[in-house]
Amino acid sequence: MDRELFEAARKVRERAHAPYSGFPVGAALRTLSGTVHAGCNVENAAYPEGWCAETSAIAGMIAAASDPDDRRIAAICVVADRIDGELTTPCGGCRQRIAEFAGPEAAIHVAVPDGEERTFRLGDLLPAAFGKERPS
Ligand code: THU
Repeated sequence: MDRELFEAARKVRERAHAPYSGFPVGAALRTLSGTVHAGCNVENAAYPEGWCAETSAIAGMIAAASDPDDRRIAAICVVADRIDGELTTPCGGCRQRIAEFAGPEAAIHVAVPDGEERTFRLGDLLPAAFGKERPS
């Protein structure tokens, strides 16, 4: 596990706006060029209008730089509490959003705030992914 990513995700989780679910999530990603971007979930009184931590981190990455390597995800870490005893993995929509900017080998680290963790590959979490050919 990338400790810097874990710490960034753990820290940003504390800023989540999750008054409706009571389920704060933090995510931090590392680009191919090494830059870290972090984001948290941001909920809304109109429930469907909220969005996930991974989405926030991706938005930060895209807004930050134009160089192609600054816009590709090498690894992402998601920090949240367990659900039914299991570590929290990215939702389906976020798997697709990550896949827009990452290959199947990208590391998806999932962890609880006090540290227990597991690492998946994007290709294992989103097999046979939909994807159009995209410009590099
Ligand atoms: N959530 C995330 O931020 N990331 C995920 O991968 C799963 C779910 C958020 C969305 C919502 O604010 C809360 O967790 C409960 O679903």
